[in-house]
Amino acid sequence: MSVMQIPGHEHQRPGEVMLEEIENILGNCKRCELGQTRSHIVFGCGNPHARVMFVGEGPGRNEDLKGEPFVGAAGHKLDALLSVAGLTREEVYIANVVKCRPPGNRNPKPEEIEACSPFLREQIRSVWPDVIVCLGNFASQWVLKTDKGVMSLRGQLYQQGHFVVAPTFHPAATLYHEDWQPLLEEDLARVGAWLAEHPVEASGEAAR
Ligand code: URA
Repeated sequence: MSVMQIPGHEHQRPGEVMLEEIENILGNCKRCELGQTRSHIVFGCGNPHARVMFVGEGPGRNEDLKGEPFVGAAGHKLDALLSVAGLTREEVYIANVVKCRPPGNRNPKPEEIEACSPFLREQIRSVWPDVIVCLGNFASQWVLKTDKGVMSLRGQLYQQGHFVVAPTFHPAATLYHEDWQPLLEEDLARVGAWLAEHPVEASGEAAR
């Protein structure tokens, strides 16, 4: 992972840079055209030392208005999924591939993803979770550095350096594909099982 230089840090070890520092560098971002149309930047939220980090695609209308990820219909679905993995919102950290709403909820463009990538990368390095759950194609392809679709990626865990990566469907996709719901739950249950098999002490979390 290449590292964005954060002022005041010479070594920038994982977990060293605080999320607030990254958010400060993001500032009132205009690095891509999404900065022209958004209401609020949706930086991310949750436990800064979460064992599990969720990565979505990008803010929708409600998120754009509130400045928080997954507060709309997809957010209610996400809350239900968290409980399948035995998790709560307070325990996890949630961020998106792009931090500003693509107008009309269109897909983010490659140049928008590229402009936002250093920030997500630094968020991941800051939180340094054990598990990254990727919600949908954009997050799965970004994290796993692949152009395979989530349909072929889901259903298993991937070890990617330090991280266990769980690609799965975007919760909003089940609004249109009800038959994906049990698969999404299966993927989240797999994350819950991994966490139970790797308690905090064994993962080194307690040493933080
Ligand atoms: N969908 C996403 O991918 N992210 C959000 O924050 C909300 C909906």
